[in-house]
Amino acid sequence: MFERPRGGERAVLVHLLLDEPGEGHDSTEFQELAASAGAECVALVTGRRQAPDPRLFVGSGKAEEVREAARHGGAELVLFDHTLSPSQERNLEKLLECRVLDRTGLILDIFAQRARSFEGKLQVELAQLRHLSTRLVRGWTHLERQRGGIGLRGPGETQLETDRRLLADRIRQIRLRLDRVEQQREQGRRARRKTDLPTVSLVGYTNAGKSTLFNALTQADVYVADQLFATLDPTLRRLDLPGAEPVVLADTVGFVSRLPHELVAAFRSTLRETCEASLLLHVIDVSQSNREDIIAQVDAVLAEIGAAAVPRLQVFNKIDLKDTSPRLERDAQGQPQAVWLSAASGAGIDLLIMALTERLRGEIVHGWLCLPPSAARLRARLFSLDAVVSEQVGAAGEYLIEVRTSRGRMDLLHRDGLRTEWIHSGLGDLGSVKEDESVLEDNEF
Ligand code: GTP
Repeated sequence: MFERPRGGERAVLVHLLLDEPGEGHDSTEFQELAASAGAECVALVTGRRQAPDPRLFVGSGKAEEVREAARHGGAELVLFDHTLSPSQERNLEKLLECRVLDRTGLILDIFAQRARSFEGKLQVELAQLRHLSTRLVRGWTHLERQRGGIGLRGPGETQLETDRRLLADRIRQIRLRLDRVEQQREQGRRARRKTDLPTVSLVGYTNAGKSTLFNALTQADVYVADQLFATLDPTLRRLDLPGAEPVVLADTVGFVSRLPHELVAAFRSTLRETCEASLLLHVIDVSQSNREDIIAQVDAVLAEIGAAAVPRLQVFNKIDLKDTSPRLERDAQGQPQAVWLSAASGAGIDLLIMALTERLRGEIVHGWLCLPPSAARLRARLFSLDAVVSEQVGAAGEYLIEVRTSRGRMDLLHRDGLRTEWIHSGLGDLGSVKEDESVLEDNEF
């Protein structure tokens, strides 16, 4: 159904600098994205414009230059490093006489090639169909015609109506399936919350080495490829840390600058892992020259998905390419802030384990609360957070509640009305109550 750039497809790349806020990036990332989609770049056309042209995005002179470059290079495809409106895309296709794909279409194509899990594939297909449906409704009206022919004439629907109906049906089906998969994921998340294993999420610019690090830490066999976006679906594994509670390690989708909004929406359930994590491991490729820029771009995406407040530990990866030794950096309070390592050679992984252990120690609190009968709302909140291990009712109607939860969540409970005098840490005469550890099976990860 979707036409995509296939391996070796010859393409002209168009990269414009616009005098608009947030613009001014160079074309290196765009070229890497195009190569990652399998396009062979035959020419790069660059230019500068104050604002996009409403009809063609570029000016007519520049469009002519692109047309010449495409003809000269024998290109079948023109890629734009910007979001084009459906009508701009259509006008350009007519003028250039070859297929035109904008930045969103290109990223969607890469995502489609890389998606591995069932959920990831559904998310990509849904985003593609949505993208396509805007093009159908507003862009393809020139295709509108009566379907017909001998024996088929009559009050039939137009081709465009058929296409729209088919698209709408398919979108509905995918949504239903996605809802089901998301419910399953939510169940898994709830089971984890119950035992309160903190989640550590790997984040970082695409190709930084997240999957390699994930494998090095867990020795799991996760797909690794030297292409952008090798990882699309979070993969979860349990990681045992010496001297701290075990954690769940989540490998997440690779970030890219200017991630189109519709993609952030498409991956919302995947990205939720990131927002709910106790700690983010921000993986950074030290061999990249524009490192600071890339760090800032990842921070911007994290802010956009609501994960700005989640604590971070920076991991400077690929030190083997820079001939640097592994090291651990701490802040003024002695808290680990950054680890320099090589995920591929394994040098410095021990330092990362040490840093993780230090950062996560004391992350889980386990104690007792004695709530008066009037604190029923707080009690209900504790249950809704799956923080209650056991409960008894005392002689005066007070609730004696055994609580096991993360420190961060405990702090937040003060906002729900928790008073310090209600916190009892000793087990007292309730010592016979056992912890409920049965909910989490190892094979869940
Ligand atoms: P996406 O899934 O695209 O986000 O990528 P990723 O961040 O998961 O990167 P991945 O682990 O797939 O690694 C990308 C490339 O970098 C692969 O070719 C790895 O072999 C390579 N790589 C990862 N770690 C190191 C390292 O420590 N040193 C060197 N030299 N290469 C590494």
